[in-house]
Amino acid sequence: MKIAILSRNSNLYSTRRLVEAVKAAGHEAVVVDHSICDLIIEQEGPSIIFKGQSLTDIDAIIPRIGASVTFYGTAVVRQFELMGAFSANNSQAIVRSRDKLRSLQILSRAGLGMPKTAFTNFSKGGEKQIIEHVGGAPLIIKLLEGTQGLGVVLAETKKAGQSVIEAFHGLRARIIVQEFIKEAKGADIRAFVVNGKVVGAMKRQGAEGEFRSNLHRGGKATVIKLSRAERAAALGAAKALGLDVAGVDMLQSDRGPLILEVNSSPGLEGIEKATGVDVAGAIIKFIEEGVQKNSPKRSADQ
Ligand SMILES: Nc1ncnc2c1ncn2[C@@H]1O[C@H](COP(=O)(O)OP(=O)(O)OP(=O)(O)O)[C@@H](O)[C@H]1O
Ligand SMILES: [Mg+2]
Repeated sequence: MKIAILSRNSNLYSTRRLVEAVKAAGHEAVVVDHSICDLIIEQEGPSIIFKGQSLTDIDAIIPRIGASVTFYGTAVVRQFELMGAFSANNSQAIVRSRDKLRSLQILSRAGLGMPKTAFTNFSKGGEKQIIEHVGGAPLIIKLLEGTQGLGVVLAETKKAGQSVIEAFHGLRARIIVQEFIKEAKGADIRAFVVNGKVVGAMKRQGAEGEFRSNLHRGGKATVIKLSRAERAAALGAAKALGLDVAGVDMLQSDRGPLILEVNSSPGLEGIEKATGVDVAGAIIKFIEEGVQKNSPKRSADQ
């Protein structure tokens, strides 16, 4: 079988590991940079041109779509689906999970725990009320497009919170305002879900005095065993968003696990190094099963 890894950089740990795992399972691997694919859309034979060649014989794809290229990347995934290839995550689910607001709405409808969160569309004068809605200070203010912990602010007082919200809004930056979960103590949990199972989980602890646990901000990852509630939350979140491969980030709180975010292209380096689990291998095993029962219904799902 021929498996394409959609990635813009074949040197990345995740890409390299997936290529390795494809080969280890006896298949052929090809790395396709989705950002430079041309899509030919026609009734008879939709096709994809990559580096002057038509990609016609791909059985399955593993999308590794960066947030900055979601629009085009998911169009490429959709095109592969139209051509009958099995995708580790379907294009609709990727689009859904990339919209943070929409994801939170879906997760809340599914009855999953999350920090109290508010979103405001630049309405003036409502800052105070919003802060009250998320439980007052201290509170978290996040840039909707932030990543790696950048753009996440902890405001210690309501006044500080109000100023930060006003400042972001003044810059026309989209933000969410969120209850600060103190009990998390600067740590979060990443559960890696493949095909309805948690294949590995790690706890990331922020550096001394840091409330953000991001590894890019000096956080350290260690393997953990999830509680029943944490496992159920991780699986429930992936299911609600329709993701077969997902990195579910949660905070441990007094009222149980609270979901922060669900990532459709979760990195492999942190989780494989912290847990020693062959996560790439687990993804390939899922692909093998998926290709076997790949039905036209799934690939045509719009
Ligand atoms: N409501 C909260 N209460 C306590 N700590 C939080 C809260 N939200 C975020 N944090 C801490 O800050 C870190 C970064 O926040 P978050 O994961 O939301 O943003 P990001 O990592 O910048 O973006 P993304 O995960 O979308 O790439 C979290 O991993 C967590 O440790
Ligand atoms: Mg994060």
